[in-house]
Amino acid sequence: MHILGRQVRFSVKPFASEQRADNVYVSTPINEGLSFYLELSVKIKGSVNPDTGFVVNVVDIDRIVLKEAFPIFSKRLSDNFKSGRDTGYSELVELLGLTWCALSGRFDGARLSELSLNLNPFRKMTIDSKEFEMVYYSEKFEFSAAHKLWNDKFSKEENFEAFGKCANPNGHGHNYTVEVTVKSPAGKGGFSIGGFEKIVDDELIKILDHKNLNEDLEFFTKAIPTVENIAIFAWDRLIGRLDQIKLHCVTIWETERTYCSYYGL
Ligand code: NI
Repeated sequence: MHILGRQVRFSVKPFASEQRADNVYVSTPINEGLSFYLELSVKIKGSVNPDTGFVVNVVDIDRIVLKEAFPIFSKRLSDNFKSGRDTGYSELVELLGLTWCALSGRFDGARLSELSLNLNPFRKMTIDSKEFEMVYYSEKFEFSAAHKLWNDKFSKEENFEAFGKCANPNGHGHNYTVEVTVKSPAGKGGFSIGGFEKIVDDELIKILDHKNLNEDLEFFTKAIPTVENIAIFAWDRLIGRLDQIKLHCVTIWETERTYCSYYGL
């Protein structure tokens, strides 16, 4: 069994009727001015067709997603824009649910397993086939911090052997990225992105930002501040503090190439 992923980029422009599709890598449709840019990430589970080597041909995914999903978003966003109405989080959840229903069963022998709406590169909302009634919301934050990877039980030589240049006794710094994913029932209102951001900022980012992790935070006197342990620290800081929504996952990027996700287990 394979899971095939495909991202479909499109733009809704309520100001003009003409839509052009010149570069699918950028967005299709798109035109030359401002628009609401959105991405749908589709994951499709299925077996590989021995004749084609595909689970589903991505050209078909693009065609089906655009045919089904684009009108759902285009009509609602345009109508709201023209009548001066905001399109809030609950309405986006509704549109994502409608899109899921429109795409289900459209990929021959393969099955839609996950659908994400990327509102921008830092915020996304996801539904999946395992818990269809839940919506996952993910948002990225940043902080800068210094750390040193060092274990007092090791000799100096053993520390450098285990941690390499990260054992530099005077420390070094990173610009970290944190992605926090929470889940809440799709039909239930009350989730506020602003409220969520404030909690993450107050309970996590302000605690870590511009700190020397080894020196300033007691947690890291007992735990080496690796990306794995920072993920546990972040989970512990946030669990139980998010009101009615449930923490699902925390991912810490130390660099673009080094990251770790923690699910609390
Ligand atoms: Ni480091």
